Amino acid sequence: MAGRSTQICIIFYFTTMKIDFGGVTEDVVTRDEFPLSRAQEALKDETIAVLGYGVQGPGQSLNMRDQGFRVIVGQRKGTDSWDKAVNDGWKPGETLFELDEAAARGTIIQYLLSDAGQKQYWPALKPHLTKGKALCFSHGFSIVYKDQTRVVPPACVDVILVAPKGSGTSVRRNFLKGSGINASFAVFQDATGHARDRAIACGIAVGSGFLFPTTFENEVWSDLTGERGVLMGALAGIMEAQYNLLRAKGHSPSEAFNETVEEATQSLIPLIAEKGMDWMYANCSTTAQRGALDWRHKFRKAVEPVFEELYKRVKEGKETEIVLKANSDPHYRENLKKELDEMKNSEMWQAGAAVRGLRPENWKK
Ligand SMILES: NC(=O)c1ccc[n+]([C@@H]2O[C@H](COP(=O)([O-])OP(=O)(O)OC[C@H]3O[C@@H](n4cnc5c(N)ncnc54)[C@H](OP(=O)(O)O)[C@@H]3O)[C@@H](O)[C@H]2O)c1
Repeated sequence: MAGRSTQICIIFYFTTMKIDFGGVTEDVVTRDEFPLSRAQEALKDETIAVLGYGVQGPGQSLNMRDQGFRVIVGQRKGTDSWDKAVNDGWKPGETLFELDEAAARGTIIQYLLSDAGQKQYWPALKPHLTKGKALCFSHGFSIVYKDQTRVVPPACVDVILVAPKGSGTSVRRNFLKGSGINASFAVFQDATGHARDRAIACGIAVGSGFLFPTTFENEVWSDLTGERGVLMGALAGIMEAQYNLLRAKGHSPSEAFNETVEEATQSLIPLIAEKGMDWMYANCSTTAQRGALDWRHKFRKAVEPVFEELYKRVKEGKETEIVLKANSDPHYRENLKKELDEMKNSEMWQAGAAVRGLRPENWKK
């Protein structure tokens, strides 16, 4: 184990491993402390009902099925999601059911409807939460913002969380590549005395990388901040700002796109993923290094107040309020499509499509 990294201090500790994360020691779970065989043993009498076949539903349910767990899927019939489940090999009446039927059959309910959908379906799900079952979330949203969602589970069930830190698409893709997406886990309510084991076993079952403990509150606050911030919102915003500036100063679309997006995704971000930011810097020109080392402080200072505002709004429930309102709108999907189309059809992302088409691996297509 010590071979993983010479800088990592490892002490075995029941089901967790102590890892030094830059000077702060945390307990995490890997497949060494909690192997697949242990997860299979822990869940051998369970039927895991995955409710919802959107983005996370397919990734988590297919990984669990492939790893030998008893899994069924619950999904509204007559929808694209139902057809997708059938195409993925789920058998109507055997492993694929309407939501109510799956909820009745499951002993662990993996609640993977959209967060707004969880609020809407909750009154129908609640009667199926009988003594000893577990209700498993992939987000702290419904529980933490219960004043907005009205999701209050009965005291007789375990309430647990396994939150993959990545898209459901990556949950599946990485699993198929033999890798995994890291996930956090938490126990909100331990009715059976086995909630923690059930949570970790579910985390291993869905094919997680390492699992780190959290609380429902910390999961939802960090997740809502991250996706609005660096992972998605800030990423798009800062790219648009630089692209627009370069275009306004007379640079061509291909030059502006290459200097803003293509070089980042094709060259630099993979280097950061491999060995960290300093290593990426070390592999750039001395000119680039000098400028980047100076300007990162200016950019950090410029956005610090925006992050403060974001975290405050998340904690106050303003962001979840917006999500529940927008995503409960009957025209949600059309409205979303309009917004995404606007992005897709912008000059910057049209330039991106042209640039992607010119990647050598796409020349023959
Ligand atoms: N997306 C991710 O990669 C990701 C990552 C980490 C955590 N999470 C969390 O995982 C959970 C699931 O997220 P997701 O992104 O997979 O959800 P999603 O793709 O938005 O979920 C869509 C699913 O919810 C169903 N649904 C929506 N409204 C419904 C309603 N009123 N009644 C019944 N079914 C309804 C949809 O069914 P129809 O097709 O019938 O509409 C579909 O099965 C959420 O808590 C989310 O925060 C997601």
